[in-house]
Amino acid sequence: MRDFAVAEDRQFHLRVPMGVGAAFPRFSAREITEDRLGRLMEVAGLAPSNWNLQPWRWIVVREGAAKLYLEAATCTKVPLSSAPVILICLADTLAWKSAPLRLQEMIASRKISVEEGREALRRVREYYSSSPDAGKRAALANAFVAAHQLLLGAAEFDLSAYWVTEFDENKVRTYFHIPDHFLVATLLAIGYRDTEGAPEVSRNSPRASIYSEKFGEVPGSASSRR
Ligand SMILES: Cc1cc2nc3c(=O)[nH]c(=O)nc-3n(C[C@H](O)[C@H](O)[C@H](O)COP(=O)(O)O)c2cc1C
Repeated sequence: MRDFAVAEDRQFHLRVPMGVGAAFPRFSAREITEDRLGRLMEVAGLAPSNWNLQPWRWIVVREGAAKLYLEAATCTKVPLSSAPVILICLADTLAWKSAPLRLQEMIASRKISVEEGREALRRVREYYSSSPDAGKRAALANAFVAAHQLLLGAAEFDLSAYWVTEFDENKVRTYFHIPDHFLVATLLAIGYRDTEGAPEVSRNSPRASIYSEKFGEVPGSASSRR
């Protein structure tokens, strides 16, 4: 079992898995059933996304040779093949093209008016056709949120999971027949943890990553109060 920080809020209790650096969890040989994985992926599918575009797609990899291939495609020698399941999380850079459908759904469920829907569609088209980077950024951001939701969900199912984003994308693309307009957002190794979690490594003080009003200005300093 991994370690948890319990953050308390008035409305909810959140169990947050705490990363411990580059020490990878060792997985036991226990398989993850289709049912459990399916439920976990339903949790991931509840993630929010721009205009509810849900641009993530998953390839579930259980087959030994494919896992070894993925392991060889990682840049930092991650023991991926020991995971019973590796999920390849894809981000559809053209998902914005389904905005008309998604906006129709929002109109039908009275989330927005017809007029608002028309105006939103005009802006969405203008924004996403301005540069391919716009579609890439949104798709990746949304896919990462879904991946993170899956990781949090995994903890609730007593599973452990970790991210891998340093890999040769072209190799992954070729082997798994991934179309060009999808980015490989991340690989997620999932399984039951074999050993106790490693001790936590030191983390930056949260203060070191927070600026006040302008980049680089430390909260409470004379310059930030001016
Ligand atoms: C977004 C993200 C990407 C990551 N990519 C890699 C990676 O490519 N290679 C790697 O060795 N670790 C990577 N890590 C770290 C591992 O996923 C993992 O967090 C670390 O091994 C600690 O394991 P734990 O979370 O079970 O404590 C990444 C972590 C995050 C949050």
